[in-house]
Amino acid sequence: MKAIRLHEIGGPQNLRIDDIERPAPPANEVLVRIQAAAFNRRDVFITQGLYPNIQLPRTLGSDGAGVLEATGEEVVIDPMLGWGDDPDVWRTDATILGMPRDGTFAQYVSVPKANVYPKPRALTMEEAAAIPLAGLTAYRATFTRGELGPDETILIPGIGGGVQTFVLLFAKAVGARAIVTSGDNEKLERAKALGADVTINYRETPDWQKTLKRGEVDVVVDSSGGDTLAKATSALRPGGRIVIYGGTRPESTLRLFPIFWNHIDIRGTSMGSPSDFAAMLKMFDGDLRPAIDRVYAMDEAVSAAERMAKSDQFGKIVLRIA
Ligand SMILES: NC(=O)c1ccc[n+]([C@@H]2O[C@H](COP(=O)([O-])OP(=O)(O)OC[C@H]3O[C@@H](n4cnc5c(N)ncnc54)[C@H](OP(=O)(O)O)[C@@H]3O)[C@@H](O)[C@H]2O)c1
Repeated sequence: MKAIRLHEIGGPQNLRIDDIERPAPPANEVLVRIQAAAFNRRDVFITQGLYPNIQLPRTLGSDGAGVLEATGEEVVIDPMLGWGDDPDVWRTDATILGMPRDGTFAQYVSVPKANVYPKPRALTMEEAAAIPLAGLTAYRATFTRGELGPDETILIPGIGGGVQTFVLLFAKAVGARAIVTSGDNEKLERAKALGADVTINYRETPDWQKTLKRGEVDVVVDSSGGDTLAKATSALRPGGRIVIYGGTRPESTLRLFPIFWNHIDIRGTSMGSPSDFAAMLKMFDGDLRPAIDRVYAMDEAVSAAERMAKSDQFGKIVLRIA
């Protein structure tokens, strides 16, 4: 079968198509014939050596949708492996599909039976492939950890991020008010089309927090790090929540006084439990569709990964697997 593999650290240009053996699933696993896959920042970080426990050569890819080889059923894959029994926190030995084990950028992948779910009927294969990792992370950050309610306002910094786009979709789906920032006006326009109520360019307005009313934000969901949270806290209401699922800029300059004085909760989150995944898929039973940036062919994987490395995308970068 054809698989997009990384043999050596050094960046997205090191991805190449190999001909390898089809995996033979053990008794508790199933073989999925992948029809579409999608990129996450994680795949690019792995090519750059910026990820723990990298083992090479490996087939990358956490997101995938396709058909069960044995039955023909259309499925989407939950990339969270071994979450464990506690819905509040994952097991410390939990892993994510696509490193250290082989992932979805291949014509076939073997995954545990428990990790395949029926594809939401309304979605195409490409749309279904776009949702697993980012949708799961966003669902848990927004609802399970963020506890966003329909009458609340959420602040979503860096709307160009794959997960953030889902946070916006989910927030609007439940009727919440959404304030988004981006360094790119085109991305802000696209966010407006998805329902963003307030859009702010953090490059043109470095003190963007001053354009918000003190206390008008109930929840911030962030992965951008740096000075974002220090700024965001001035707009958070007393008793508000901060949810963090990533650190694109890994250090944060959070000021402590507004946190303790205003009884702010800071909550970490990563990926999500099986029940988060099932609840996330249900969000797509109706009219909701993921935002797709571009769809690339399998032999264009390097260009696709380079687009993500430059953060040029809005929404998910999808790979058609044939
Ligand atoms: N813990 C988990 O389970 C989990 C899951 C998924 C991702 N992550 C992590 O979360 C982070 C984002 O991943 P992703 O794939 O969703 O996004 P991404 O595609 O890597 O996008 C990162 C975004 O960060 C935004 N950004 C950069 N500088 C910013 C700034 N100064 N202020 C505000 N925003 C800024 C940019 O938004 P604009 O282009 O709009 O300016 C950019 O598009 C990564 O660090 C990733 O590793 C963690």
